[in-house]
Amino acid sequence: MTAPTPRIIAVDGPAASGKGTLARRLARHFGFAYLDTGLLYRAVGLRLLRAGQDPADEAAAIAAAGTVTPAELGDPALRSEATGQAASAVARIPGVRQALLDLQHRFAVAPADEKGRPTPGAVIDGRDIGTVICPGADVKLFVNASLETRAKRRHKELLDRGEAIIYARVLEDMERRDQQDRNRSVAPMAKAPDAFEIDTTKLDADGAFAAALTFIGSRLD
Ligand code: DC
Repeated sequence: MTAPTPRIIAVDGPAASGKGTLARRLARHFGFAYLDTGLLYRAVGLRLLRAGQDPADEAAAIAAAGTVTPAELGDPALRSEATGQAASAVARIPGVRQALLDLQHRFAVAPADEKGRPTPGAVIDGRDIGTVICPGADVKLFVNASLETRAKRRHKELLDRGEAIIYARVLEDMERRDQQDRNRSVAPMAKAPDAFEIDTTKLDADGAFAAALTFIGSRLD
């Protein structure tokens, strides 16, 4: 007997929209594995930063992307603002996206938890999950919020983590990153036509979770 096809929940949206919080909570709720695909691009960006290389260096970025493993995704330096910017730069390079495709597809086909145990489904978050990585996902969510709201959240997050940075700089960086992620030629950040949009500008984490559960309803049966 073959195993049933894993259920996939795709969660896309811009930085600091709350998609990570929502995705993790959904994964816990359904007992699904969770993959934050932003970490893959961040891992590539961080490798280049640490090697003193330019994140726009295509050959170096593609080489780094070819050897990224899930094991290195726990490094706290992946979460820094500088790494986020580097991630956005490497994410524009088609060869980088191609190199990370396999890993994401393998996860979607055979999701497993941190201990390697198979799970009945996966929650995958990113920018192009519902459009490119898993266009056949059972559920597609697009989590969004106003630029100012997201910049405020990110600013607080960075301060809490001890990164000294002013709000105006966070706002500017976020706007630049949005532009870059939305306007790149390959797999730009976009809401899939069949995705359910959740605007978290005035919604807290509980509200977003409740809205997602209502939408998901019986879609996973
Ligand atoms: O979600 P995040 O901030 O960790 O993502 C970091 C960068 O990686 C983001 O600016 C764009 C890129 N990214 C992407 O292009 N595609 C994805 N599926 C996930 C992230």
